[in-house]
Amino acid sequence: MLASTNPVHSLSSLLGQDVFGKPTMVKGFPNLTAYEIDTHDTIEKSKNEIREKIAWFLKFADIKTKADEFVESATMNPAFEESAMFENMIDLMFDDEYEVYVFDTAPTANARRLLGMSSVYEMWVNKMVQSREEAASLKDLLSYSKKKKEKDPLMGYLLNLRERMHNAKELLTDDSLTSFFFVTLPEALPIAVITRFIGWFKEFNIPVGGVIVNMLIDKDSVKQDTPDFVKNRVAMQEEHMQTIWNEFDGQVRAILPLLETEVCDTAMLKRMADLLFAEN
Ligand SMILES: Nc1ncnc2c1ncn2[C@@H]1O[C@H](COP(=O)(O)OP(=O)(O)OP(=O)(O)O)[C@@H](O)[C@H]1O
Ligand SMILES: [Mg+2]
Repeated sequence: MLASTNPVHSLSSLLGQDVFGKPTMVKGFPNLTAYEIDTHDTIEKSKNEIREKIAWFLKFADIKTKADEFVESATMNPAFEESAMFENMIDLMFDDEYEVYVFDTAPTANARRLLGMSSVYEMWVNKMVQSREEAASLKDLLSYSKKKKEKDPLMGYLLNLRERMHNAKELLTDDSLTSFFFVTLPEALPIAVITRFIGWFKEFNIPVGGVIVNMLIDKDSVKQDTPDFVKNRVAMQEEHMQTIWNEFDGQVRAILPLLETEVCDTAMLKRMADLLFAEN
């Protein structure tokens, strides 16, 4: 399963077929399914779920306020989109339909936030569960209404969420099951970015599988009459390769050459994969 959680997807154009919104078999590859996760859809689903829970709770507690205001405040926070996406990734993994899952996550701080969030989420859920338990026992003590016999769906939801978060954390921090790979170019900015990321990931005990260097110009193609522009870029790349060896010694998994065209169909993808997995 090759899934993209990046809101700006490129899998469909890469594969030359529509893989948006649902897992789709890739033509010509019997063992490859691709899936651009529909961020909008995921968010709507999460919003509806939360709306139902809040509406139920307000009714349960006899509070005469519209659920909408609460839903807005629960879903307007900037992490909501990421947490909805994170839940989507977790669901996909725990459905356990595929042998291997490859997620292309957004190049921003997303990935780390997603994972750091599982810790925060767990704390939050624990707190919520605790206060639900306290509320329930108070309610039992104080109320003789038949409402107390009603099962508390919020509690069920929270317990389920806690279990899923716990499982996700176990899975994502188990280095025999999960690895994160960082793709960089032999250039200053992307090197600085992944250096920072790798540090953060280590902080969260998230297993780092290594670094892949992309778009290295083949030095052997540089001749006497090669334009200065190319010569300069090769020299620049060579310098940055030094940094890469210094910073990521022992973690560089592959170096991919800059190819003569874009990588934009399955044949090119296959070629990249062969280069990626080539010995040495
Ligand atoms: N080794 C390569 N040789 C030639 N073209 C390449 C190579 N690697 C990537 N490209 C091309 O560069 C462009 C950007 O690649 P890609 O989409 O993988 O980058 P990205 O880092 O994932 O971008 P984004 O940050 O938008 O997700 C694409 O058009 C792709 O075909
Ligand atoms: Mg990308």
